[in-house]
Order: sequence, then C-alpha cells, then structure tokens
Amino acid sequence: MIDLLIRSARIAGSPDSAPVDLQVDRGVILEIGPASSDPVPARTIIEARGALLSAPYVEPHIHLDTALTAGEPRWNVSGTLWEGIACWSERKALLSRKDVIDRAEEILRWQVANGVLFVRSHVDVTDPKLEALDALLEVRDRVKEVVELQIVAFPQEGICSFPDGEKLIEEAAQRGADVVGAIPHFEDTREDGVRSVEIAIDVAVRHGLMVDAHCDEIDDEQSRFIEVLATQALRTGLRERVTASHATAMGSYNAAYSYKLQRLLQRSGINLVCNPLVNLHLQGRFDGYPKRRGLLQAKEMLGAGVNIAFGHDDIMDPWYPLGTGNSIQVALVGAHATQLTAPSEVEECFRMVTDRAAAALCLGERYGIARGRPANFMLLPALSPFDAVRRQVRPSHVVAHGRLVASAPPAATKLDWPGRDTELVDHIRLRDAAGATWRDRGDV
Ligand code: FE2
Repeated sequence: MIDLLIRSARIAGSPDSAPVDLQVDRGVILEIGPASSDPVPARTIIEARGALLSAPYVEPHIHLDTALTAGEPRWNVSGTLWEGIACWSERKALLSRKDVIDRAEEILRWQVANGVLFVRSHVDVTDPKLEALDALLEVRDRVKEVVELQIVAFPQEGICSFPDGEKLIEEAAQRGADVVGAIPHFEDTREDGVRSVEIAIDVAVRHGLMVDAHCDEIDDEQSRFIEVLATQALRTGLRERVTASHATAMGSYNAAYSYKLQRLLQRSGINLVCNPLVNLHLQGRFDGYPKRRGLLQAKEMLGAGVNIAFGHDDIMDPWYPLGTGNSIQVALVGAHATQLTAPSEVEECFRMVTDRAAAALCLGERYGIARGRPANFMLLPALSPFDAVRRQVRPSHVVAHGRLVASAPPAATKLDWPGRDTELVDHIRLRDAAGATWRDRGDV
C-alpha cells in the first residue's frame, strides 16, 4: 500500500493536458501515469477532478527577520527605503531570539498555506550579536520537514560602511548561512560599493556558498553595481549561483546602456529577482510627475534570455505595510507592473514564482514533478497557470515530502440573481484566454 494517490490531475506546463494519476510513497514521487479508475491501494486518495498539479511556489526573496514589525517603534511615514532602514535600526535594538523565531514561523505558516514550500530569506547581519541570524538558523532546522529555508547573510547597513561589516559577514558564513548578501548602492562611496561586492563574492567562493545581493535598489541611473556583480559571477565561475535582487535602477537606465547590460547579464548566467509589490511602493518617492515605476527591465531581460523570478520581499515591516505571503498575488501584481500581460507572458509570470524562482535558488532535482523527486506539490483548482493568476486561486491541497500539509475548500458565493439562484465559484469561465478548457462542468 502506498502513502498517497492523486487521481486525475493535469500537470502545469505539460504539452498535452491529459489527466494523470500520481503515486507517492515515503515522501517521493513513485509513479506518474495516465489517469485510470483501476484500484490502487493507498492510505490517502485525493480526487483532483482535472485540477492543475504544479510544483510548489518558491519564494526567492523575503525578509523573515523584519516581518510583522510595521509600526514598531514607529511607522515609516515617508514610505522611502531610507526611512525604513532608520525605523528598522531602532526596532533591531529590541530583537530577541524568540521574537524573531515567532514572527518568522508565523509568516512561514502563511506561506505554506498559500503553497510556498521553498523560501530564501535575507537576514540582517549588521548586528554585532547576530541574534536574528542565529534565530533563523534555528527556524531553518525546525521547519525542514515542511519548508526548505535558505538564509542569506544580508548586511543591511553595509559591509564596508558599517563597523566590522566584513568581519560580520565572514562570521555569518561560518555560522551556517547558505547565501552571502551585499548592498553596494547603500555603501558610502562607489569604491566601497565595488569592494563590498568583491568581499561578498570572495566569502562565497571560500565557503562554497551562493550570492544574492540587494543590487541598485535606488532610482539613480548612475547606480550600476549590477555590472560589477555580473562580471564577478562570470570571472569566478559562480554564474547561476549569483542573484541580483531588486535592481530597480535598471528602470532608469538609458537604452544604449541597457543593451550592453543585456549582453553581459546573459553571458554571466546570473539571476534577477524583481520585487513588484515592495518596489512599486518604495520607488519613485523622490520623483515629481511623471513618476518612475522603479522596477528592473523584466520584459527586455527575459527576452535576452536572463532568468528572472518574482519575490514578495517584505511583509508588514518598516518597508512595506501590507502582504499575506501569497506568491500568486506577487505574480498578478508583477504581470501588471512589468506589462507582461499577453497570455504567454502571464504564464511566464507563473513560472517566475515557480520554475524560474527554483532555478534562482539552485534547487536542481529537489524541485519539480517527476518520478523519483521529493513529493512537494500543490493542486490548484484552475484550468492553467494563466487561469490561476487571473482568478488568484488558492491551492486546494499542498503536499510536502509526501504529507498533506494544507487544504482548503473552493471559495463559493451564493447569488440571489433575478430569475435564477446561482452559485459563483471563484469566477470560473469554461475557457480561458490562453486557450485551456475544462473537460466538463463536473471537473470544477
Ligand atoms: Fe529585499
């Protein structure tokens, strides 16, 4: 008898949408085959009825250590990155290990309920005690049976411009961070910014870690540390193990420089992470009208073959007062913000919170729906990724390492409509703009 059988699901991204059955045992996908009504002995059977089977969402960029601190000790009234950093500097003095663990785990529970099973969290290491780092290292271990957490040693107040910044990033790597961060545009001088990238790359190479830098998160067309990061990634061979997060200055680059940059980023193999919720909120704050969007050039860089993922970034903290840890919401806002709204582009936005984000985290064969891989997946009551993004569906089932960890009934509204009573289920249409159709009404 196997542990789990999923009956009659359709795999997201599969060229033919024929329904399949999926067998799971001991946390691993045992078999994927054509849907059948033959009896299969299983401890748990989930009838998918044509729902979309997808690998889980991957959150490529969040700050779990700062989450749920908005308004403590004061609100960021200007809405700028800079006031956010000042507010956080005050809140940071009040941190305790338990405080960080409680808030981080609460957000992880929200994310798992939303279908997120892989998370890369930055953690501020410009704290001589590295309290938040130690707390998140403990959380990484506590949650590992459900969610895989990668921890980025993030020097919020700089590596070269903060007392002992270089020593702290080295210490964070030694204590067990998975990824080395940087914030070159925040350093005092351009030279310090370049040096901070070199230090981050050097620490990563020596400890065998990845790199994920907050890079050019400023509306300054002169901020061009991404070329330094990409060149270092290329020359050291770290390549796709390097990510440039935010890169919002790119939204202000001129066409000639953008063209040069496309070529460099494509050759370097680095990933980009765009954080549409937070950067639409933070950027452009110093502009009159017309006001810049403050986002990287997602459509153009995708066209050039650069891997891009969408991240949530902040949840109810000094930089962003909203958020529920829901990747499908990030995909929807990202589609609007980057004007990726043709049917194939909306499907690409879904990939930016699934496959593309998994590539940025270098998850390799730990991720994906295939025989022999860990049984991490979700069922979405949707026709297609396009449909899931449009209707903002929540997963009906989330399975982590073969175990059902979250489930939710479809949301339905009873309407009293002139001439007939009717039930509206999640705004379903039988055919979506990408051309997918439900087989019959019973599938819903
Ligand atoms: Fe960030």
